[in-house]
This record gives sequence, C-alpha cells and structure tokens, in this order.
Amino acid sequence: MSTPHNRAQNGDFAKTVLMPGDPLRAKFIAENYLEDAVLVNDVRGMLGFTGYYKGKKVSTMGSGMGIPSISLYAHELYSFYGVENIIRVGTCGGYSKDVPVGGLILAQAACTNSAWTSNYGLPGTYAPISDFGLLTKAASAAKEMGLKASVGNILSSDPFYTPDGEAWKKWAAMGILGVEMESAGLFCTAAYLGKKALSILTVSDHFVLDQADMTADERQTTLDDMIRIALEIAE
Ligand code: HPA
Repeated sequence: MSTPHNRAQNGDFAKTVLMPGDPLRAKFIAENYLEDAVLVNDVRGMLGFTGYYKGKKVSTMGSGMGIPSISLYAHELYSFYGVENIIRVGTCGGYSKDVPVGGLILAQAACTNSAWTSNYGLPGTYAPISDFGLLTKAASAAKEMGLKASVGNILSSDPFYTPDGEAWKKWAAMGILGVEMESAGLFCTAAYLGKKALSILTVSDHFVLDQADMTADERQTTLDDMIRIALEIAE
C-alpha cells in the first residue's frame, strides 16, 4: 500500500510518531536517538523513519509548515498506517513573559485564526485540544527530567507574516503562551479520527521579552529536551 504522499507499507510506522516541521529534523532524530532506524518515506522529501528507543518501536516524520500540511500527513498516518499518537516537536514565538526564549510549552489547546475548523461543518466553534493522557505523561516526564515545562493554550496561526502587527497582543491578553502554525490542525485531525495528539514546543523568538532569538546551539539543546520527553512517553 501507499498514499499520494507516503510510500511506506503497512506496518512500517510505529504507533507513535514524533513530528517536527522540518523533515531534516526527523532525519536528525532517527540518526541520533533511534536504533536500527530505517527510512520509510521520502515522497516530496518528507522524510519518515522508524526505529527503536529503549526497545520501543517509534517513528518520526516531518510535517511541513502550516495546518493543511500537518493535517494531511497526520490524516494519512492515523487512517492508513495504524498510528495512534502523533507528538509534534516544534518551535513557537513567545507571547508570555513567564516563558522566555528556550522555555518549553506543552500545548493543552490550540486557538486558531484559520478557517480549518469550518471544514467540519459544526454548528459552533470547535476548541482543538491535545490528548489529556499524553499531556499529563509529558508533564510528569519533564518533571522527572528536571525540566520546567509550561502547560497552556497556544495559537496556531495561518500567516507567519501577519498583516495586523498588533493582533498578537489580543491573543497574549487571553493568556496564550505562544504562536506556531500547526497544532490546531493536528488536534482537529486527531479528534476527527478518534486518535491522540500532543504538541511540545520550544520558544525560539519572543514578542514581549527583549531577548535574542535562539542560537543554533541553543536550538539543539532544547530540541534534545523536547525529543527526550516525546520519546519517553511514546507507547
Ligand atoms: N510565528 C509563527 N510560527 C513560529 C514563530 C512565530 O513567531 N516562531 C516559531 N514558529
């Protein structure tokens, strides 16, 4: 079997998939954290790998950027490859002074300015949320590793270059911790298909605090924290 965007065969993916936005990050995860990792997808360069972490079969695949991209790949993983859990590992812009650059966020829910949720034809507004089990496991794993992780609401924005340069302040006033571009689509897709999803994010740049963006080295270290949390909670 295969799909229009995935050449993997039945059984090639594990029950849990770690999804960074960048497919080269998926390659990095496979090469540095998984044993016996094999390439299972490379359609359109969206690299996917499956290997073993502490004896557990785990996969990792890029999601691309934006809600349509992650939703498409997540749909196929959940629907055609028997995947149960997708854990996004990504970066976000910081909206809260309590979570500085380098800080970790576990996304409890994801607001959005996208029309994506209207695709479900609901008679109201859907609130995309992560899976409570994955969320609490990630919070416990972070604590055990001695890492501070803030649990809360985020924004999944369609535009990266937002026409209204002040809009972020309204989200920040509602307690939104940070902005990225994928989680709401992932959470909707998981809910629609009866599956589980979580997003673990690192703040890479900040809207409130006057801090420099993360250096390449800092990105690597915090990426390591996110990956280790995700791998520890993989089922
Ligand atoms: N906006 C949207 N997505 C992001 C950002 C941002 O500032 N930083 C990292 N991902």
